[in-house]
Amino acid sequence: MVKRLIAGNWKMNGLKMAVQEVESLQRKLTPADMEKNDILICPPATLLMAFKHKANDLQLGGQDCHPRENGAHTGDLSAEMLSDAGASFSIVGHSERRQDHGESDEIVKAKAEAALRAGLTPIICVGESQADREAGKAIRVVTTQLEASLPATEGHFVVAYEPIWAIGTGLVPKTDDIAEMHGALRSAVGADIPLLYGGSVKPGNAGEILSIPHVNGALVGGASLKAEDFYGIISA
Ligand code: PGA
Repeated sequence: MVKRLIAGNWKMNGLKMAVQEVESLQRKLTPADMEKNDILICPPATLLMAFKHKANDLQLGGQDCHPRENGAHTGDLSAEMLSDAGASFSIVGHSERRQDHGESDEIVKAKAEAALRAGLTPIICVGESQADREAGKAIRVVTTQLEASLPATEGHFVVAYEPIWAIGTGLVPKTDDIAEMHGALRSAVGADIPLLYGGSVKPGNAGEILSIPHVNGALVGGASLKAEDFYGIISA
């Protein structure tokens, strides 16, 4: 059985007491849950070290990485540093980074390549705006964005489809629209690349979303912060 990947993106949330939330999640997880799912937590990078020795079966990831290995880049973190701190994945190209930090597809591609060089699995995020969706351009916009964001080097990666208008809003695309987008992404990347859906995934809608063809897991923001909600998604 191919495992689903359920990834929690904590964004800029979580102080050191968040360790308790992870421990509480671990107490809920059964062997059957672990057989069915790979579970990934992407906390703020300040917490990676604290989680490293407690993660056990859980995987850890960064939320971003710099394209370079080291150097004069104040405030940035390289993929090597994330790996050193216990990460095996890194999100790249999240729409919040693309918007807040003006990250182009070219930068996202360089970050994905940097993650691969450091032995991390990049989770490459793509997604359309509300205006693109309403104009009927979602598939074209997202597949174009993906093609320009893919690493040119060999290596395993994950793609997360996250419609910008669905992130943190409680809005979710229609099941048919997710299916259509994931079908298009599948054609673009081939059979071996896990495709995640992200954007307002909650315990109440996770079962339906995760049963859509070519949806191999979820990238969860808000609902990954509380063990109970995150577990509700994992067990859906
Ligand atoms: P959300 O965020 O689950 O809070 O909508 C998803 C994401 O941005 O990865």
